[in-house]
Amino acid sequence: MFRFLIAALLVAAATGALESERSVVPALFAFGDSLLDAGNNVYIANSSARVDFPPYGETFFHRPTGRFTNGRTIADFLGKFAKCCSFPFFVFQFATSAMHLGLPLLRPSLDPAANFSKGANFASGGSGLLESTSFDAGVFSMSSQIKQFSQVASKLTKEMGNAAHAKQFLSQALYIITSGSNDIGITYLENTTLQQTVKPQEFVQGLIHEYNKTILALHRLGARKMAIFELGVLGCTPFSRLVASTMNETGCLTQANQMGVLFNANLEQLVRDLRSQLPDMKIALGKTLNIFTGILNNATHYGFASTTSACCGAGPFNAGVSCGRKAPPNYPYKVATGKKPSRFLFWDRVHPTEVAYSLVFKQLWGGDLGAIEPFNLKQLSTMID
Ligand SMILES: *[C@@H]1O[C@H](CO)[C@@H](O)[C@H](O)[C@H]1NC(C)=O
Ligand SMILES: *[C@@H]1O[C@H](CO)[C@@H](O)[C@H](O)[C@H]1NC(C)=O
Ligand SMILES: *[C@@H]1O[C@H](CO)[C@@H](O)[C@H](O)[C@H]1NC(C)=O
Ligand SMILES: *[C@@H]1O[C@H](CO)[C@@H](O)[C@H](O)[C@H]1NC(C)=O
Ligand SMILES: *[C@@H]1O[C@H](CO)[C@@H](O)[C@H](O)[C@H]1NC(C)=O
Ligand SMILES: *[C@@H]1O[C@H](CO)[C@@H](O)[C@H](O)[C@H]1NC(C)=O
Repeated sequence: MFRFLIAALLVAAATGALESERSVVPALFAFGDSLLDAGNNVYIANSSARVDFPPYGETFFHRPTGRFTNGRTIADFLGKFAKCCSFPFFVFQFATSAMHLGLPLLRPSLDPAANFSKGANFASGGSGLLESTSFDAGVFSMSSQIKQFSQVASKLTKEMGNAAHAKQFLSQALYIITSGSNDIGITYLENTTLQQTVKPQEFVQGLIHEYNKTILALHRLGARKMAIFELGVLGCTPFSRLVASTMNETGCLTQANQMGVLFNANLEQLVRDLRSQLPDMKIALGKTLNIFTGILNNATHYGFASTTSACCGAGPFNAGVSCGRKAPPNYPYKVATGKKPSRFLFWDRVHPTEVAYSLVFKQLWGGDLGAIEPFNLKQLSTMID
């Protein structure tokens, strides 16, 4: 017992010394698509890119929230909801700093109850870098997301009544972005006319041009700490595997993976250019494709029973009918209703499960240069601008 107390005191002393290791981030702002969306499309009248029905959200929130997965996304884990450590004794919990920023759960930015003082989630499922991506589905495009953020930043500045404080708040906040999957997967790969007239490299350059504008706009509005997540394995989703099988390909959809790799290479170059153009901004680049590939190659270690089929949906790879939708009469496949999501890498035909997100998040938070460079999210969160 006495020994235990001594240990506790030592741990307490060490914790004091680690004060500067804590997050100094006062707010988190997320932008992009369904990989981060916390339910914005629910607030868009007539948006068809919605998943506000069961079994979405069944795992953590126990209700559909508009998130495109069974539970939390990377934005949620980063704000608050990552578990700190698996040690059984509470004293050790103090010794290891939390794996999150310690902020309240980020609300969708379009939620009338959103309080932007600790940030907000502007991401919208189905959206892309191009205004035209999912335009008909009624989504909140990247440029609209930035426009709303600009209004929020002005409002916060006014409310603070002190320009220097507001500037500091906006520069210490963390901005995370992921976008591009839908531009490639929907706008380009589902349009053969476009593919015949615009080459992949040309199309990707157009996307990078928009990404550049997005990052520069956030910088102009005061952002100084940013994490950009590359595209994952676009061609290995259950839906891509289904498309591949109809094209007599087995396994992943080569064309989608190639476009993803091309996009990531161009994004890396853009980030390198921006780092030298904007020396006052810290930009971390999350190597989501590396992380995801590592998980795919080590699936049994992580307890996944399937990395190819969706947990929820129906048809080949459970990708013929989308999760939570009705199968047509006499559909010859069994419907998977989303049981045991932690055994699946993919929740629905395009989106990872919560447990897959948590594995990716762990590496973005504390991983090495193969996962995120030049610093990880934990390091970024302790940097004083
Ligand atoms: C939504 O759809 C209804 C019915 O089609 C239409 O009357 C309304 O104008 C639409 N609202 C928006 C914001 O597009
Ligand atoms: C938002 O939350 C902060 C801190 O919790 C509070 O001071 C502020 O009044 C809230 N703003 C609104 C508009 O509710
Ligand atoms: C496909 O691309 C062509 C050429 O850019 C465009 O005119 C057309 O509207 C696109 N089709 C769809 C369904 O988006
Ligand atoms: C797939 O293979 C079958 C049989 O070899 C052939 O008839 C069909 O045209 C192929 N489909 C595509 C999209 O290449
Ligand atoms: C990003 O935009 C800026 C300003 O328009 C421009 O100077 C720069 O060359 C662009 N970078 C890329 C990689 O497009
Ligand atoms: C799988 O993960 C474990 C634990 O992280 C690691 O020790 C092992 O090297 C990994 N194997 C591969 C093939 O990545």
